[in-house]
Amino acid sequence: MAELILVVGHVGAGKTTRAIELASAIGAVRLTPDEWMMALFGESDPDGKRDVLEGRLVWTAAQILRSGTSVILDFGLWGRDERAALAWLAGTVGATARTEYLSVDRTTQSARVAARWQESPHSTWAVTDAQLEEWRHLLQEPDARELAGTYRAEPPDPGGWAPWIARRWPTALGT
Ligand SMILES: Nc1ncnc2c1ncn2[C@@H]1O[C@H](COP(=O)(O)OP(=O)(O)OP(=O)(O)O)[C@@H](O)[C@H]1O
Ligand SMILES: [Mg+2]
Repeated sequence: MAELILVVGHVGAGKTTRAIELASAIGAVRLTPDEWMMALFGESDPDGKRDVLEGRLVWTAAQILRSGTSVILDFGLWGRDERAALAWLAGTVGATARTEYLSVDRTTQSARVAARWQESPHSTWAVTDAQLEEWRHLLQEPDARELAGTYRAEPPDPGGWAPWIARRWPTALGT
């Protein structure tokens, strides 16, 4: 059965590195928005376009899952609701979903981000220590149930997950 794998972690935790390894190990398609944003705009989020691009990638992920191939979403996915919504979406196309969390301590994180900037400035953006500090509080860490793939949440929106997804990632849904 096709599987949707949500790679979660702080900036510089090693998500893309892990997603590349995993894609090759299990024969899955990897979708990494940063690579698209860099190629299209050379910036991380001009005019809120990132949410639209991620939406199209979510839409693409659903098509791939429906065809029977697993997908790795390398989106960051700091919000628990975001992950629950995507797990629900996977179910609608006959796939399972699980979260893979990469933890990284603050010191290692700074060192990795700095080393990456030195090694490959063309494929990344400069990030300050103040930003790393601020962003650390935004990630809702997955719990054991989520990591085991058994976490299912009720949608915060009375209309269900579909309108929630359509608001969070414009253009994610459709035929
Ligand atoms: N397990 C690891 N051990 C040591 N270094 C690592 C490990 N995983 C990744 N790195 C290095 O850390 C840096 C950040 O890794 P990577 O780009 O994969 O992180 P990321 O989580 O995708 O970051 P971002 O949130 O910015 O997309 C890279 O230079 C990478 O080579
Ligand atoms: Mg990355």
